[in-house]
Amino acid sequence: MNKIINIPDNSLIILVGIAGAGKSTFAKETFGNDERAVIISSDDIRKRLCGDSKDQTANEQVFEIFYREIEEKLKEGKTTIADATNLQERARRELYDIAKRCNVPIYALVLNVPLDRIKRQNTRRDRVVPEYAIDRMYKQFGEAYHAIAQELPKGHVIDIISPPRRITKDEHGGRDR
Ligand SMILES: Nc1ncnc2c1ncn2[C@@H]1O[C@H](COP(=O)(O)OP(=O)(O)O)[C@@H](O)[C@H]1O
Ligand SMILES: [Mg+2]
Repeated sequence: MNKIINIPDNSLIILVGIAGAGKSTFAKETFGNDERAVIISSDDIRKRLCGDSKDQTANEQVFEIFYREIEEKLKEGKTTIADATNLQERARRELYDIAKRCNVPIYALVLNVPLDRIKRQNTRRDRVVPEYAIDRMYKQFGEAYHAIAQELPKGHVIDIISPPRRITKDEHGGRDR
C-alpha cells in the first residue's frame, strides 16, 4: 500500500503509543496523501464534539463515534488507521472485533519511543498531557507491547522507529497541530 510499510489495502491499522510518541504525525506523513486510506483520530473527534481536544468529559461518546466511524470506513473498503493510544486491552479488543466483523486484516504499528523524547514532544503537543499521566502510560505501554505480540499474528506487529527530527523555530514552544 505504500513504500515504507507493506500493508494490504482495506486493512485495519492500529497505532499503539503513548501521548506525544508521534502517532498522529506519523499517520499523517505516511497515509495523509493516500486516497485509499483514512485516519480516524479520537482527539479529532473530541475536538469536533466538544470544541476542545482537552475535554475528557465526553470520552464515552468520543469512543463510541471513534469505533463506529472505523467500522464504516472499513466497510467502504478503506484502509483505516485507528489513531488513539490503544494501550488498554479493552480498547484493542474492540478494534479486533470490528476487524473480525468486517473480515479485514489487522496490523499494529507500535511507536516505541524513549520516555525522555516523549516528554519533550508532549510539551509541543496540541493537548499537553500531565507528566504523571505520561509516566502511567509508559508503564501501560510496556505491558501492551508484550500483549500485542500474543494478540496478533506474526508479521502483523510492526515497530515504528521514527527518528527525532530537528525542531523548527516555529515549533519551539508553539502549537503545531
Ligand atoms: N519524529 C519526530 N521528531 C520530533 N518531533 C516529533 C516527531 N514526531 C512527532 N513530533 C512532534 O511531537 C509532538 C507530538 O506528536 P503527535 O504526533 O501529536 O503525537 P501523538 O499523536 O502520539 O500524541 C508534535 O508537536 C509533533 O510535531
Ligand atoms: Mg495524536
